[in-house]
Formats: sequence, structure tokens, C-alpha cells
Amino acid sequence: MKFFIRTFGCQMNVNESEIMAGVLEKEGFEWTENPQEADFIILNSCAVREKAEHKLYGAIGYYEKLKKKNENLVIAVGGCVAEKERKNILKRFHGVDFVFGTRNYMDISEFYNKAKEGKRFSDFTDKFDNITAELPKHPYSKHHGWINIIYGCNKYCTYCIVPYTRSFEKSRPIEDIMNEVKYYNDNGYREITFLGQNVDSYGKDFGDGKPKLNILIREAAKFESIKRIWFLTSYPTDITDDLIEEISKNPKAAKNFHLPVQAGSDNILKKMNRRYTKEFYLDLLDKIKSNVENVTISGDIIVGFPGETDEDFMETVDLVKRARYERLNIAEYSPREGTISAKYYEDNIPKRIKNKRFQYLMNIQKQINHEENEKYLDKTVLVIQENKTKSGAYLGRTINNKVVIFESEENLVGKFVKVKINKISAGPLYGEIISKETDLNFEKVEYYI
Ligand code: SAH
Ligand code: F3S
Repeated sequence: MKFFIRTFGCQMNVNESEIMAGVLEKEGFEWTENPQEADFIILNSCAVREKAEHKLYGAIGYYEKLKKKNENLVIAVGGCVAEKERKNILKRFHGVDFVFGTRNYMDISEFYNKAKEGKRFSDFTDKFDNITAELPKHPYSKHHGWINIIYGCNKYCTYCIVPYTRSFEKSRPIEDIMNEVKYYNDNGYREITFLGQNVDSYGKDFGDGKPKLNILIREAAKFESIKRIWFLTSYPTDITDDLIEEISKNPKAAKNFHLPVQAGSDNILKKMNRRYTKEFYLDLLDKIKSNVENVTISGDIIVGFPGETDEDFMETVDLVKRARYERLNIAEYSPREGTISAKYYEDNIPKRIKNKRFQYLMNIQKQINHEENEKYLDKTVLVIQENKTKSGAYLGRTINNKVVIFESEENLVGKFVKVKINKISAGPLYGEIISKETDLNFEKVEYYI
């Protein structure tokens, strides 16, 4: 029996696919990259924008046709579109055998067995308590482990479907997360990423209301093999001074925050139900930058939110110029059925204007990237090598998330290498290897940028 998983959307979905793959392999299924030869196809979907949802529907249409060649083929749809549409997917696509949710994906093999009995069904039971480090997994990377530490979101930004598809916030117990860190440590992993829609809300639901991401980072850093600890995504009002302090003093904590702002105009922020002002956000960036050496910040912005005037947009432009992001995801507003903004605010910014604002911001960000990257020219950086790029060169990342491209004769994936930067762009930095992990004196250089 062979299974094929296609994952759309965020890293949380990727992590959940890793667990589904692990569960299926434990039950004797075999992984395939080729849907044509699969007996079981799982689509793990994303609902954040309309485009992602349409991509899913296109994919279902394609995979359904494979049933003509293989009548034993079972097709399942999980993830956020499944949560949003539930039985509608079964009604619309007769080739889909079952739909399941964002908190019961670990039952995937039982679902398959049930589908083989010939029933088409949907199951959205909340099995949060069954999400533990004991679940088998098939990690996609051999050196970087992903760990979902907090599920759901309580923020209800008016444009966002996530609180509806991933439900309320629930944090996994610290001991269980540490067991998962131990698993990666014992398997020789170098990096881990703690994942959550609001990763810095972690632990607020344990009773005392205090976020505890700082404790997780501190505890995870005690594992010898783990050299870098990433965390994503942050919400501006949940970042505590304790967290900033832990990141600044802990050499293993990644010096990078993914801290979406969404808009620069207080008026739009309010309509989005983001719970801060432009000033608050910029002050927070100042605080982070003055406390954490070499820190980089990445962000998300939505352009063309209902009612966004030219003045509102110029506030966003001003914010982007002052924030000097290391990376910026820009999205055109896409109304999502079921959210507050889709219900109460007309999507009244024409596509043409949305696109113009998108391009305008992109160009500014490109220029900022280029200027910021100039600081790295002729410097030596320490990266962990990742997979090859399409051009055949290798890619690596610094602890502050700068992407570096370099040639390497040996496959040093997952290993530290020192690279001297000799060319820059608005995207990656380029350089040549000057020493490899085996030559490095780790006592001295292990953690520098
Ligand atoms: N807490 C998560 C949010 C997940 S949604 C995080 O910050 O990553 C990821 C991003 O998608 C958001 O930050 C937002 O910029 C974008 N997004 C969400 N809903 C959207 C919508 N309706 N239209 C356009 N972009 C949206
Ligand atoms: Fe979505 Fe806002 Fe939560 S963007 S995931 S509702 S913080």
C-alpha cells in the first residue's frame, strides 16, 4: 500500500503531514512521491486565502481522475479547507472518500480502514489530548525538527479564518514538548522550530495566564545536539520582556522574529482587530533591536483591506521603511467567508489598486533588503548547510535567518560551515566556504553570526 501526501500552506500543516506519514508508515504503508502509483492520497489543505482554496479544488479534480485507473484509490482531504467546508467537500467532489480535521489527523490510518469499508464520511472530533511526542513521524528534514507547541488562535483578527479552522488556543504540556525535543536531539538534529499561530502565547492557558515560550527555549537549549532554536509566529502584544531577555542571552536562540504587523494605519489595525497601534509596534521593534544583537525581523502585511485609503496605505509604507524587515510577505486582502470582515465590510478596494500597492511595497522592500545586505559584504558568517538549490549550489542559513548560497563539493547538509560573503543581492547573500565544521573550534565560534 502506497500513500501520497500533498501539503498546502503553513509549516504547521507540514508538521502535521510529517506525523500522518509516520503513523501510516507504522501501519505498513509506504511513502511515494508519485500520486499515479498511490493507493491513498491525502490533501492537507490551507484556507488562508481564496487562491489557496482554489488550488486545492483544482488538485482534487486532478486526483479524482486517477480513480479511473485505480479503483482501490482512497482520497482524503484534511487541514483548514476541510474544517471550513466540512461536508460540502463530499457533496461537491464525489471522488473524495472522507474529510477530517486539524485536531484528529493522527487517526488517519483508522480513517483509511473505515473508508475501505465503503463509507464516505467526515470526522472533526477534537483529539488534542492525543497529540503527544509519542506519535510516530516521518520528518522531512534530517537536521531540522518542527514542533507544534500551541494549537489554535484566540485573536480573531477580522479577516482571518484560522480561529474558525484551528479552534481556540491550547498549549501542549512542557514535558511532552521536551520529550519531542529529546527525540530530535537523540537523532542528531541540529535545529528545531517551535510552531504556533501565536507562538509567544504558549502556556497562557496553563492557569496563571503567563506566556512561557522563554522557558521552553531555555529548557530546549540544554540538549547538546540542538544548536539553534527557532520560533514562529509571534504576535506583537504577546512578546514579553522575559522572552526578549532569553533570546538575547541564550546563544542557541535564533535571532529572528517573525512578527506580522498587517498594516501601518491605526484606523485599519482597529478594523482588523489587531490589538496595538503603529507606535506600539515600532517601539517594540526598537526594544527588540536594542536588546538582541544582530536580530532580524520579518513581517506580514495585507494590502487593500476594506476601506484602506491612500493615506492609510502611506502609513504602511512609512512603517515598512522604518521597520527595515529582513523579509516581508505581502498579501492582497482576500475575503474569507465566515470571518467578520467578510460579513461586515465590503471588499471595496479594486484588484488593480491592491496590486499597485503590492508592487509599490515590494519595490521598497527590495531596496531595503539590498541596503541591509550590503552590511554583510566581505564578512564571514556561520551557517548550517541545507539542501541544494536548483542551480546546484548549496544554501545555508545564519542564526539570524540570512540565506547564503555557496558552492560545496561535499554534501555537508546539517553541518556548520563558515562562508565568506563576496556578493550580495536583494535576496540571498553569496559566498565561498572558508572552513567546515571539522575545522572549527566550536568552543569559540559555535554561535556567532
Ligand atoms: N498567526 C499566523 C497567521 C496565519 S495567517 C501568522 O501570523 O503566521 C498568515 C498570514 O496570512 C497572515 O499574517 C496574514 O498576513 C495573511 N492573511 C490571513 N488572512 C488573510 C486574508 N483574508 N487575506 C489576505 N491575507 C491574509
Ligand atoms: Fe489569524 Fe490573527 Fe490569529 S492573523 S491566526 S487571527 S493572530
